Amino acid sequence: MKKVRKAVFPLAGHGTRFLPMTKASPKEMLPIIDKPVVQYVVEEAVESGIQQIVMVTGRGKRAIEDHFDISYELEDVLRKKNKLALLSELQRISSLSEITYIRQKEALGLGHAVLCSEMVVGSEPFAVALGDEILYGPRSGLAQLLEAFNQLQAPVIGLQRVPRSEVSHYGIVDGTPVRDGLFRVERLVEKPDVPDAPSDYAIIGRYVLTPDLFDILKTQKPGVGGEIQLTDALNTLARHRPVYAMEIQGDRFDTGDKMGFLKATVHFALNREDLGEEFRHFLEGILGPHQLNPDKDTPGESVYATR
Ligand code: UTP
Repeated sequence: MKKVRKAVFPLAGHGTRFLPMTKASPKEMLPIIDKPVVQYVVEEAVESGIQQIVMVTGRGKRAIEDHFDISYELEDVLRKKNKLALLSELQRISSLSEITYIRQKEALGLGHAVLCSEMVVGSEPFAVALGDEILYGPRSGLAQLLEAFNQLQAPVIGLQRVPRSEVSHYGIVDGTPVRDGLFRVERLVEKPDVPDAPSDYAIIGRYVLTPDLFDILKTQKPGVGGEIQLTDALNTLARHRPVYAMEIQGDRFDTGDKMGFLKATVHFALNREDLGEEFRHFLEGILGPHQLNPDKDTPGESVYATR
Protein backbone atom coordinates (compact mmCIF):
# COMPACT_ATOMS: atom_id res chain seq x y z
CA MET A 1 0.00 0.00 0.00
CA LYS A 2 1.10 3.60 -0.62
CA LYS A 3 2.80 5.58 2.10
CA VAL A 4 0.64 8.00 4.13
CA ARG A 5 1.77 11.48 3.11
CA LYS A 6 -1.33 13.59 3.72
CA ALA A 7 -3.34 14.50 6.80
CA VAL A 8 -6.83 15.96 6.70
CA PHE A 9 -7.71 18.47 9.43
CA PRO A 10 -11.50 18.98 9.66
CA LEU A 11 -11.84 22.51 11.07
CA ALA A 12 -15.23 23.63 9.85
CA GLY A 13 -17.43 22.88 12.87
CA HIS A 14 -19.37 25.63 14.63
CA GLY A 15 -17.78 25.08 18.02
CA THR A 16 -21.06 25.55 19.88
CA ARG A 17 -19.58 24.18 23.11
CA PHE A 18 -17.37 27.24 23.25
CA LEU A 19 -19.84 30.00 22.40
CA PRO A 20 -19.82 32.96 22.53
CA MET A 21 -16.02 32.88 21.95
CA THR A 22 -16.52 30.94 18.72
CA LYS A 23 -19.07 33.36 17.26
CA ALA A 24 -16.43 35.19 15.21
CA SER A 25 -13.18 33.32 15.98
CA PRO A 26 -12.20 29.71 15.31
CA LYS A 27 -11.86 27.52 18.40
CA GLU A 28 -8.74 26.05 16.79
CA MET A 29 -7.09 29.47 17.27
CA LEU A 30 -7.62 29.50 21.03
CA PRO A 31 -4.20 29.96 22.61
CA ILE A 32 -2.67 27.38 24.88
CA ILE A 33 -0.30 29.91 26.47
CA ASP A 34 0.98 31.61 23.30
CA LYS A 35 0.38 29.03 20.60
CA PRO A 36 -2.95 28.28 18.95
CA VAL A 37 -4.37 24.81 19.50
CA VAL A 38 -4.19 23.88 15.82
CA GLN A 39 -0.44 24.55 15.74
CA TYR A 40 0.11 21.83 18.35
CA VAL A 41 -1.76 19.43 16.05
CA VAL A 42 0.18 20.52 12.96
CA GLU A 43 3.44 19.96 14.84
CA GLU A 44 2.28 16.48 15.85
CA ALA A 45 1.51 15.66 12.21
CA VAL A 46 4.84 17.02 10.98
CA GLU A 47 6.67 15.05 13.66
CA SER A 48 4.98 11.89 12.40
CA GLY A 49 6.33 12.45 8.86
CA ILE A 50 3.19 13.88 7.23
CA GLN A 51 4.17 15.98 4.19
CA GLN A 52 0.94 17.74 3.26
CA ILE A 53 -1.90 18.96 5.44
CA VAL A 54 -5.36 19.44 3.98
CA MET A 55 -7.31 21.86 6.14
CA VAL A 56 -11.07 21.76 5.69
CA THR A 57 -12.28 25.16 6.87
CA GLY A 58 -15.47 27.16 6.74
CA ARG A 59 -16.75 30.67 7.26
CA GLY A 60 -15.02 32.59 10.03
CA LYS A 61 -11.90 30.43 9.94
CA ARG A 62 -9.60 32.73 7.95
CA ALA A 63 -7.38 33.39 10.96
CA ILE A 64 -6.10 29.80 10.64
CA GLU A 65 -4.85 30.47 7.10
CA ASP A 66 -3.20 33.71 8.17
CA HIS A 67 -1.48 32.00 11.07
CA PHE A 68 0.36 29.53 8.82
CA ASP A 69 1.05 32.09 6.08
CA ILE A 70 4.09 34.34 5.74
CA SER A 71 3.61 37.73 7.43
CA TYR A 72 6.02 40.03 5.57
CA GLU A 73 5.03 43.17 7.45
CA LEU A 74 5.39 41.63 10.89
CA GLU A 75 8.67 39.97 9.94
CA ASP A 76 9.97 43.32 8.77
CA VAL A 77 9.01 44.98 12.06
CA LEU A 78 10.68 42.22 14.11
CA ARG A 79 13.83 42.43 11.95
CA LYS A 80 14.04 46.21 12.45
CA LYS A 81 13.53 45.84 16.21
CA ASN A 82 16.17 43.12 16.27
CA LYS A 83 13.71 40.62 17.80
CA LEU A 84 15.39 37.78 15.99
CA ALA A 85 14.20 34.88 18.12
CA LEU A 86 10.58 35.84 17.50
CA LEU A 87 11.32 36.38 13.83
CA SER A 88 12.74 32.91 13.41
CA GLU A 89 9.78 31.42 15.33
CA LEU A 90 7.35 33.13 12.91
CA GLN A 91 9.36 31.87 9.95
CA ARG A 92 9.35 28.36 11.40
CA ILE A 93 5.56 28.40 11.67
CA SER A 94 5.01 29.45 8.06
CA SER A 95 7.34 26.74 6.80
CA LEU A 96 6.09 23.91 9.05
CA SER A 97 4.25 22.06 6.31
CA GLU A 98 2.71 22.36 2.88
CA ILE A 99 -0.91 23.25 3.64
CA THR A 100 -3.88 23.15 1.25
CA TYR A 101 -7.19 24.74 2.21
CA ILE A 102 -10.64 23.54 1.21
CA ARG A 103 -13.95 25.07 2.23
CA GLN A 104 -16.81 23.04 3.59
CA LYS A 105 -19.65 25.37 2.68
CA GLU A 106 -22.07 23.95 5.21
CA ALA A 107 -21.19 22.15 8.43
CA LEU A 108 -22.94 18.92 7.48
CA GLY A 109 -20.85 16.77 9.79
CA LEU A 110 -17.36 15.37 10.33
CA GLY A 111 -17.89 12.67 7.69
CA HIS A 112 -18.89 15.31 5.15
CA ALA A 113 -15.85 17.43 6.04
CA VAL A 114 -13.58 14.45 5.36
CA LEU A 115 -15.37 13.85 2.05
CA CYS A 116 -14.63 17.47 1.05
CA SER A 117 -10.91 16.57 1.05
CA GLU A 118 -11.25 13.84 -1.59
CA MET A 119 -10.08 16.02 -4.50
CA VAL A 120 -6.80 16.72 -2.74
CA VAL A 121 -6.26 13.36 -1.06
CA GLY A 122 -7.03 11.32 -4.20
CA SER A 123 -6.49 7.58 -4.09
CA GLU A 124 -3.94 7.45 -1.28
CA PRO A 125 -4.32 6.38 2.33
CA PHE A 126 -4.51 9.44 4.58
CA ALA A 127 -4.54 10.52 8.20
CA VAL A 128 -7.29 12.56 9.89
CA ALA A 129 -6.54 14.76 12.90
CA LEU A 130 -9.13 16.89 14.67
CA GLY A 131 -7.71 20.37 15.04
CA ASP A 132 -9.11 20.97 18.53
CA GLU A 133 -7.61 17.90 20.22
CA ILE A 134 -4.07 18.07 21.53
CA LEU A 135 -2.14 14.91 22.33
CA TYR A 136 0.84 15.21 24.64
CA GLY A 137 3.39 12.52 25.30
CA PRO A 138 6.86 11.28 24.50
CA ARG A 139 5.77 10.19 21.01
CA SER A 140 3.53 11.86 18.41
CA GLY A 141 0.05 10.30 18.58
CA LEU A 142 -0.26 10.20 14.82
CA ALA A 143 3.14 8.50 14.54
CA GLN A 144 1.85 5.69 16.78
CA LEU A 145 -1.15 5.16 14.49
CA LEU A 146 0.95 5.35 11.32
CA GLU A 147 3.25 2.66 12.64
CA ALA A 148 0.25 0.38 13.20
CA PHE A 149 -1.12 1.22 9.75
CA ASN A 150 2.19 0.30 8.11
CA GLN A 151 2.17 -3.08 9.87
CA LEU A 152 -1.50 -3.88 9.36
CA GLN A 153 -2.06 -2.30 5.93
CA ALA A 154 -5.59 -1.46 7.00
CA PRO A 155 -7.45 1.54 8.46
CA VAL A 156 -6.63 2.26 12.12
CA ILE A 157 -8.74 4.37 14.49
CA GLY A 158 -7.13 6.08 17.49
CA LEU A 159 -8.57 5.17 20.92
CA GLN A 160 -8.23 6.05 24.56
CA ARG A 161 -9.93 4.54 27.57
CA VAL A 162 -12.41 6.83 29.31
CA PRO A 163 -14.25 6.52 32.63
CA ARG A 164 -17.41 4.42 32.16
CA SER A 165 -19.56 7.35 33.22
CA GLU A 166 -18.34 9.33 30.18
CA VAL A 167 -18.87 6.81 27.38
CA SER A 168 -22.03 8.55 26.20
CA HIS A 169 -19.91 11.48 24.99
CA TYR A 170 -17.91 9.36 22.54
CA GLY A 171 -17.96 6.82 19.76
CA ILE A 172 -17.20 3.54 21.54
CA VAL A 173 -15.49 0.51 20.04
CA ASP A 174 -16.75 -3.04 20.12
CA GLY A 175 -13.75 -5.05 19.00
CA THR A 176 -11.84 -8.32 19.12
CA PRO A 177 -8.50 -7.97 20.89
CA VAL A 178 -5.53 -8.62 18.59
CA ARG A 179 -2.82 -7.68 21.04
CA ASP A 180 -2.50 -5.34 23.98
CA GLY A 181 -4.33 -2.10 23.08
CA LEU A 182 -5.12 -3.22 19.50
CA PHE A 183 -8.54 -4.42 18.37
CA ARG A 184 -10.16 -5.53 15.17
CA VAL A 185 -13.32 -3.45 14.95
CA GLU A 186 -16.61 -5.36 15.04
CA ARG A 187 -18.69 -2.23 15.31
CA LEU A 188 -18.57 1.33 16.54
CA VAL A 189 -21.38 2.65 18.70
CA GLU A 190 -21.93 6.40 18.62
CA LYS A 191 -22.58 7.95 22.04
CA PRO A 192 -24.10 4.87 23.78
CA ASP A 193 -25.96 4.99 27.07
CA VAL A 194 -23.67 3.78 29.87
CA PRO A 195 -25.23 0.29 30.24
CA ASP A 196 -25.18 -0.27 26.46
CA ALA A 197 -21.53 0.61 25.90
CA PRO A 198 -19.60 -2.41 24.57
CA SER A 199 -16.33 -1.16 26.12
CA ASP A 200 -14.68 1.89 27.64
CA TYR A 201 -12.46 2.44 24.60
CA ALA A 202 -13.43 5.77 23.03
CA ILE A 203 -12.64 7.07 19.56
CA ILE A 204 -10.45 10.16 19.81
CA GLY A 205 -9.57 12.60 17.07
CA ARG A 206 -6.92 10.63 15.17
CA TYR A 207 -7.39 8.16 12.32
CA VAL A 208 -5.44 6.62 9.44
CA LEU A 209 -7.88 5.78 6.67
CA THR A 210 -8.01 4.37 3.17
CA PRO A 211 -9.53 6.12 0.12
CA ASP A 212 -12.31 3.53 -0.32
CA LEU A 213 -13.96 5.39 2.59
CA PHE A 214 -14.80 8.27 0.24
CA ASP A 215 -17.23 6.15 -1.79
CA ILE A 216 -19.01 5.16 1.42
CA LEU A 217 -19.19 8.78 2.58
CA LYS A 218 -20.79 9.82 -0.71
CA THR A 219 -23.89 7.78 0.07
CA GLN A 220 -23.77 8.09 3.86
CA LYS A 221 -27.10 9.24 5.29
CA PRO A 222 -27.14 11.76 8.16
CA GLY A 223 -26.95 10.07 11.57
CA VAL A 224 -26.77 11.38 15.16
CA GLY A 225 -27.57 15.12 15.28
CA GLY A 226 -28.62 15.09 11.60
CA GLU A 227 -24.92 15.15 10.63
CA ILE A 228 -23.03 12.93 8.19
CA GLN A 229 -21.01 10.99 10.73
CA LEU A 230 -17.54 9.60 10.11
CA THR A 231 -18.31 6.84 12.64
CA ASP A 232 -21.26 5.59 10.55
CA ALA A 233 -19.09 5.41 7.42
CA LEU A 234 -16.37 3.57 9.37
CA ASN A 235 -18.95 1.02 10.49
CA THR A 236 -19.81 0.35 6.85
CA LEU A 237 -16.11 0.15 5.97
CA ALA A 238 -15.57 -2.41 8.75
CA ARG A 239 -18.18 -4.66 7.13
CA HIS A 240 -16.20 -4.67 3.87
CA ARG A 241 -12.62 -4.98 5.09
CA PRO A 242 -10.66 -5.36 8.34
CA VAL A 243 -10.58 -2.10 10.30
CA TYR A 244 -8.48 -1.80 13.44
CA ALA A 245 -8.56 0.47 16.48
CA MET A 246 -5.55 1.17 18.63
CA GLU A 247 -4.99 2.80 21.99
CA ILE A 248 -2.81 5.89 21.65
CA GLN A 249 -0.37 6.58 24.50
CA GLY A 250 -0.26 10.10 25.92
CA ASP A 251 -2.49 12.70 27.50
CA ARG A 252 -5.38 14.04 25.47
CA PHE A 253 -6.93 17.48 25.75
CA ASP A 254 -10.22 18.21 24.02
CA THR A 255 -9.80 21.97 23.84
CA GLY A 256 -13.15 22.40 22.06
CA ASP A 257 -14.61 21.80 25.50
CA LYS A 258 -14.24 24.46 28.20
CA MET A 259 -12.93 22.08 30.84
CA GLY A 260 -10.53 20.43 28.40
CA PHE A 261 -9.22 23.86 27.40
CA LEU A 262 -8.63 24.85 31.02
CA LYS A 263 -6.82 21.58 31.75
CA ALA A 264 -4.62 22.02 28.68
CA THR A 265 -3.71 25.55 29.69
CA VAL A 266 -2.72 24.53 33.22
CA HIS A 267 -0.83 21.46 32.01
CA PHE A 268 1.21 23.30 29.39
CA ALA A 269 1.85 26.28 31.66
CA LEU A 270 3.22 24.01 34.41
CA ASN A 271 5.50 22.34 31.86
CA ARG A 272 6.92 25.57 30.43
CA GLU A 273 10.46 26.41 31.47
CA ASP A 274 9.82 30.16 31.40
CA LEU A 275 6.47 30.07 33.24
CA GLY A 276 6.16 26.78 35.10
CA GLU A 277 7.76 27.66 38.42
CA GLU A 278 5.96 30.94 38.99
CA PHE A 279 2.67 29.48 37.83
CA ARG A 280 3.08 26.50 40.17
CA HIS A 281 3.67 28.86 43.09
CA PHE A 282 0.57 30.78 42.11
CA LEU A 283 -1.55 27.62 42.00
CA GLU A 284 -0.09 26.31 45.24
CA GLY A 285 -1.05 29.61 46.84
CA ILE A 286 -4.64 28.95 45.87
CA LEU A 287 -4.84 25.20 46.35
CA GLY A 288 -2.07 24.11 48.65
CA PRO A 289 0.97 22.13 47.40
CA HIS A 290 -0.50 18.60 47.71
CA GLN A 291 -3.26 19.37 45.20
CA LEU A 292 -0.90 19.76 42.27
CA ASN A 293 0.18 16.15 41.93
CA PRO A 294 -2.93 14.28 40.79
CA ASP A 295 -2.63 10.52 40.82
CA LYS A 296 -2.70 9.67 37.13
CA ASP A 297 -2.29 5.93 37.55
CA THR A 298 -5.98 5.06 37.84
CA PRO A 299 -6.60 2.51 35.05
CA GLY A 300 -8.81 3.75 32.27
CA GLU A 301 -8.64 7.34 33.34
CA SER A 302 -6.64 10.25 32.14
CA VAL A 303 -6.97 13.19 34.47
CA TYR A 304 -6.95 15.43 31.43
CA ALA A 305 -9.42 13.80 29.07
CA THR A 306 -12.77 15.52 28.92
CA ARG A 307 -15.51 15.96 26.43
P1 UTP B 1 -17.15 18.59 17.01
O1 UTP B 1 -18.54 18.20 17.22
O2 UTP B 1 -16.14 18.38 18.07
O3 UTP B 1 -16.99 20.11 16.63
O4 UTP B 1 -16.64 17.99 15.63
P2 UTP B 1 -17.98 21.28 16.50
O5 UTP B 1 -19.22 20.88 15.80
O6 UTP B 1 -17.17 22.37 15.92
O7 UTP B 1 -18.16 21.63 18.03
P3 UTP B 1 -19.42 21.64 19.00
O8 UTP B 1 -19.69 20.20 19.30
O9 UTP B 1 -20.51 22.37 18.29
O10 UTP B 1 -18.89 22.41 20.16
C1 UTP B 1 -15.43 17.29 15.53
C2 UTP B 1 -14.51 17.94 14.52
O11 UTP B 1 -15.09 17.94 13.23
C3 UTP B 1 -15.08 19.22 12.66
C4 UTP B 1 -14.98 20.19 13.81
O12 UTP B 1 -14.34 21.38 13.40
C5 UTP B 1 -14.17 19.39 14.83
O13 UTP B 1 -12.78 19.54 14.64
N1 UTP B 1 -16.30 19.37 11.85
C6 UTP B 1 -17.50 19.05 12.40
C7 UTP B 1 -16.22 19.84 10.57
O14 UTP B 1 -15.11 20.15 10.06
N2 UTP B 1 -17.35 19.98 9.84
C8 UTP B 1 -18.57 19.66 10.35
O15 UTP B 1 -19.57 19.80 9.61
C9 UTP B 1 -18.64 19.19 11.66
